[in-house]
Amino acid sequence: MSAGPDAFFIRSAMRSDLDAVRSLLVETWHDTYDALIGREKVTEITHSWHSVPALAARLERARSEFIVADNGGQIAGMAYAEASKDGRTVLLRQLYVLPSMQRQGIGSQLLNEIADCYPEARRVVVEVEEKNERAIAFYRAHGFWESERRADPLGHEVVVYQRAAAVWSGL
Ligand SMILES: CC(C)(COP(=O)(O)OP(=O)(O)OC[C@H]1O[C@@H](n2cnc3c(N)ncnc32)[C@H](O)[C@@H]1OP(=O)(O)O)[C@@H](O)C(=O)NCCC(=O)NCCS
Repeated sequence: MSAGPDAFFIRSAMRSDLDAVRSLLVETWHDTYDALIGREKVTEITHSWHSVPALAARLERARSEFIVADNGGQIAGMAYAEASKDGRTVLLRQLYVLPSMQRQGIGSQLLNEIADCYPEARRVVVEVEEKNERAIAFYRAHGFWESERRADPLGHEVVVYQRAAAVWSGL
């Protein structure tokens, strides 16, 4: 557990957090992706990928970390990652901070905590929608570099960013 800005603490997610995490994901997905893939598509995706049962399944997965930024009254951010079987690669599947709470260092705290959770890992990998400029600026600021481009399951071009697991970015 570590302290974040404005008394936000980074801790493991619990079953009782999932309604708040779902609300956070719905709000942040609309804010981020409506302009990129359309509001209807975002609503459809958040209904399935971010339902409470879908999130609950992630609490149980092997080699996974599901963490939240909490100040005791509000959950402002979340991250979810899974390691490969050999433990060398960490796939950061979700990193979301409420729009009103962005640019306060919470995303950096969550990313640093995920990296700390996997001391044996060699690299951290994340897929980013190619037009998601905020996220790309964030990952570049944290030492990630573009390693490949491919289509995601929805047919959108995504850019794969990666970096060495143990990097101190100073952020
Ligand atoms: C990407 C995201 C997680 C970053 O979280 P955050 O808490 O806002 O990031 P931080 O405050 O820790 O930012 C750290 C650094 O990243 C860079 N950065 C972050 N957001 C940026 C933006 N909008 N524009 C330019 N640079 C940005 C800056 O260098 C920043 O340092 P600074 O504020 O001292 O200049 C957040 O913007 C978010 O949730 N976005 C929507 C969801 C999303 O796209 N998630 C990633 C999916 S792959």
